[in-house]
Amino acid sequence: MMNSSGAAVQARGLTVRRGDRTVLRGLDFAVPPGRITGLLGPSGCGKSTLMRSVVGTQAQVTGTLDVLGHPAGHATLRSRVGYVTQAPSVYTDLTVRQNLDYFAAVLDPGRARRDAREESVARALADVDLGSHADALAGRLSGGQLNRVSLAVALLGSPELLVLDEPTVGLDPVLRRDLWELFHRIAGRRAATILVSSHVMDEAERCHRLLLMRDGEILADDTPDALRRRTDSENVEQAFLHLVDEANALQESAR
Ligand SMILES: Nc1ncnc2c1ncn2[C@@H]1O[C@H](COP(=O)(O)OP(=O)(O)OP(=O)(O)O)[C@@H](O)[C@H]1O
Ligand SMILES: [Mg+2]
Repeated sequence: MMNSSGAAVQARGLTVRRGDRTVLRGLDFAVPPGRITGLLGPSGCGKSTLMRSVVGTQAQVTGTLDVLGHPAGHATLRSRVGYVTQAPSVYTDLTVRQNLDYFAAVLDPGRARRDAREESVARALADVDLGSHADALAGRLSGGQLNRVSLAVALLGSPELLVLDEPTVGLDPVLRRDLWELFHRIAGRRAATILVSSHVMDEAERCHRLLLMRDGEILADDTPDALRRRTDSENVEQAFLHLVDEANALQESAR
């Protein structure tokens, strides 16, 4: 179920305080269903804070934030939203399959049929192409494979919304490309909505839609194409810099 606007995520006046600082300042944005939306902006601009707000783990959130038609953090969203944090939490002393079995059991407090759980694990393994590594210890995997285990954990329970916090950080260009192809396959195959953050602007071109952030604010909420055209830029990085200059000029003139 989506909200009345049809968006998978809809924010109005979303504000978050951390300590004595306001780190998100009255954000309005929408994340369309069934698409890949990139959340891009420099380190410290508030991407992880926004994502934690969407999955309901952030304190001191005010304003309106609807996720799949419910207030963020609502109990019914627990299995409908998958979240991969910036620091992946996978048990390195368990095998890939043992990790997935464990998280599938945690996710399933009602103890659904064992075969349904096994099916969910097998599907997640297949979706991230780790079937051949199912019995390898997670601690012996490469960085890219470990990222895919985290992603598989988030796919358990077939979430409608996947929130991925910088899943490609530290990966080489080939692995980054493979992972983006995987996101597109997952969005297509599972008809899921993906909200994915990055501070690498060239990854923006791989998204259907973009939220560009700076310093706790949204600079743009648009498609990569429209952004480039609107700012007469060759790529999203240029468009971002153009928007930053524009925002600075506006601030100056308001003084
Ligand atoms: N406990 C805290 N108290 C006060 N400020 C905090 C606290 N935790 C984080 N912040 C600030 O909140 C802001 C947003 O942090 P956040 O982690 O959301 O940024 P980010 O865009 O995800 O950065 P990165 O790309 O480095 O992951 C930062 O300026 C950070 O310094
Ligand atoms: Mg972050």
